[in-house]
Amino acid sequence: MSGVTVSAIAKAYGSLKVLQDIDLEVQPGEFTVLLGPSGCGKSTLLSAIAGLDEIDSGTVTIAGEDVTDREPSQRGIAMVFQSYALYPTMTVRGNLSFGLKVKRLPKAEIERRVGKTADMLQLTPLLDRKPGQLSGGQRQRVAIGRALVQDAKLFLFDEPLSNLDAKLRTEMRVEIKKLHKDLGMTIVYVTHDQIEAMTLATRIAVMKGGQIEQYAAPDELYERPATLFVAGFVGAPAMNFFPGTVHGGHVVIDGLSLPLDPLPLAGAVADGTKVILGVRPEHVGLADDGAQGTIVDASTDFLEPMGADTLGWFLLGRHRISCRLAPQRARSVSGLVRLALDLRHASLFDANSERRL
Ligand SMILES: Nc1ncnc2c1ncn2[C@@H]1O[C@H](COP(=O)(O)OP(=O)(O)O)[C@@H](O)[C@H]1O
Ligand SMILES: [Mg+2]
Repeated sequence: MSGVTVSAIAKAYGSLKVLQDIDLEVQPGEFTVLLGPSGCGKSTLLSAIAGLDEIDSGTVTIAGEDVTDREPSQRGIAMVFQSYALYPTMTVRGNLSFGLKVKRLPKAEIERRVGKTADMLQLTPLLDRKPGQLSGGQRQRVAIGRALVQDAKLFLFDEPLSNLDAKLRTEMRVEIKKLHKDLGMTIVYVTHDQIEAMTLATRIAVMKGGQIEQYAAPDELYERPATLFVAGFVGAPAMNFFPGTVHGGHVVIDGLSLPLDPLPLAGAVADGTKVILGVRPEHVGLADDGAQGTIVDASTDFLEPMGADTLGWFLLGRHRISCRLAPQRARSVSGLVRLALDLRHASLFDANSERRL
């Protein structure tokens, strides 16, 4: 098992800086997810680790060895892509063993590895079928199996579940998580889906514009987002944001004045600082139902049923604020309400730097 260290990697296409001075450390056995919107450089970073693309500067170390100048085949990695092109004329067994035959492994060893992997991925009954005779999920399992048989030091996944429908995606997500728990391999996994990232990762690197905004465990990222971008990208329904100014230990948002005292701030914030207050919908409640926090008056705007809970939208002055409500309770919510904001879990960002205060 082996870790990865990426140091000061940069890459540009003409004037477009796709990766800007990226540092990333993945511990042995870690499941690191690269998360960010389309075009932020996730695949480019993964390709740099794999050696599929030239980089302009920086180094890649895998298992303690500098592999920057090595071919992909010499880096001890296995990859799974979104478009997992299986060989259509080969059986599942053929697809699983092909890479090992190319490497001229002994026949017995190939059979042992293919057998073990097929068992693990419940592909044994399908070994003699061709890809055309498999469901989407089964095909994706073969693609993952093709990576697993290689006994690689490091597994790289690029949006492997994006082509599957929602239900299958959830199932495969659970399977990948189980594989990691059982085998403990080191994984770097690219996705734009924050739920996938939150459920799979030991640490998530949130990327924006070729840079890593924050690299942290999922709960840390969720509870203490380092930047406004991370706060807005992670979490569904999304965090509520209110622009305001700090005055005398309060944040003043239009006419409304909220105390800063309950907030987990890193230090004092000077008067006059332009800020953005972030409050997640689950930290807003109905004061009349006993919700604790800073009480504010609001009016009901509309209700959005989401199944397990209903998202209540209220107007706080000219700002809209969302609140998670029990569906039963939401049915009788209307008109003026008193909301309780639990500011102990709120985030405050500098409006200029967009960094957490
Ligand atoms: N071969 C290329 N030539 C020019 N621009 C590219 C090339 N490959 C990627 N890009 C650009 O680099 C940026 C990052 O791409 P990519 O790493 O694929 O993003 P992501 O995987 O996060 O969606 C995008 O703006 C993309 O258009
Ligand atoms: Mg990509």
